[in-house]
Amino acid sequence: MIDNYGREINYLRISVTDLCNLKCQYCMPAQGVKKKRHDEIMRIETIEKIAQAAVNIGIKKIRLTGGEPLVRRGIIDLVSRISKLKFKGLEDLAMTTNGLLLEQYAADLKKAGLNRVNISLDTLDPVKYHKITRGGDLTQALKGIEAAQKAGLSPIKINVVLIGGFNDEEIVDFVNLTKDENFEVRFIELMPLGEASDWDKSHFLTGEEILHRVPQLIPLPTKGKIGVARLFKLPDSKGKVGLISPLSNHFCHDCNRVRITADGKLKPCLHDDVELDIRDYDEDHLEQFLMDGIYGKPVQHHILKHDYIPVARNMNEIGG
Ligand code: GTP
Ligand code: 5AD
Ligand code: SF4
Repeated sequence: MIDNYGREINYLRISVTDLCNLKCQYCMPAQGVKKKRHDEIMRIETIEKIAQAAVNIGIKKIRLTGGEPLVRRGIIDLVSRISKLKFKGLEDLAMTTNGLLLEQYAADLKKAGLNRVNISLDTLDPVKYHKITRGGDLTQALKGIEAAQKAGLSPIKINVVLIGGFNDEEIVDFVNLTKDENFEVRFIELMPLGEASDWDKSHFLTGEEILHRVPQLIPLPTKGKIGVARLFKLPDSKGKVGLISPLSNHFCHDCNRVRITADGKLKPCLHDDVELDIRDYDEDHLEQFLMDGIYGKPVQHHILKHDYIPVARNMNEIGG
């Protein structure tokens, strides 16, 4: 479907829960979040119907997000229901996860039809991991990455949110992960929303910092590229390095996505408070729900404008 600004919208991100087994400092409040009532969260059947409607109007890629999608009960069943849409035009079914439960679920997810995973990992130091995630176990996340590789949930992308004074000293170590493994390690500029909306400026670095620290990175051709990352590689490396720069190099003009929160609100833009409520549509009109959202999509975000106000929701509700 083409939106009002000529962009083809073919990517839907569905948050299946706002709960998480971690509380990353930039994402979740320290006290965690209150569990929503059952009737506030979309049912598996509803999510399946949305996915079906989305494919009917031309969505080709669906990503399940959270919170942490693997803590949602029935997640394997949901993956297998949505993966049936591959016979009707869905080309890619992916998930963004912190990886902690992948040791347990990777093989089943693959069997159910998930194509690939993006795994969030902001540090390779167990003490720092414990700190940024407020209690997480790095070994478990690394085991998850290994399990995803073994299960063939590839290509595996590793999402590193770049945080000045926290992980900028680890840039080279992260880049070196791509030497012998076919990972795409992606450095993401920290965005001022949710918990991070009032963080000190010193924590916000641009993607250029990576090229500064690792000048030997070679840019890869952008023609036919999929996704928001600018891609690079080390000479002779198996994997790639991606720079996702929503602030310094925003990709709104190429934006191809809309997202749905776990409580059934369609967000045409990550950085805009406009939301459509699924409850205002009956279940036979989900295509209309999606189309209304797509037509309401703003032209770009305004993070860098002086009067920018961060969106009201935390990232765990939106799913990135
Ligand atoms: P691929 O399909 O593998 O390209 O994944 P993806 O980059 O679309 O998804 P992922 O969940 O891994 O998101 C990576 C980062 O990009 C996260 O920090 C997201 O918040 C950010 N991101 C995703 N979509 C948008 C968007 O529409 N706008 C902005 N500003 N950031 C986004
Ligand atoms: N800025 C940039 N990325 C963020 N993520 C969560 N909050 C932010 C933020 N404020 C990332 C997560 C995950 C992805 C979906 O979004 O680390 O990899
Ligand atoms: Fe959980 Fe992801 Fe938020 Fe971390 S960033 S608390 S892993 S939802």
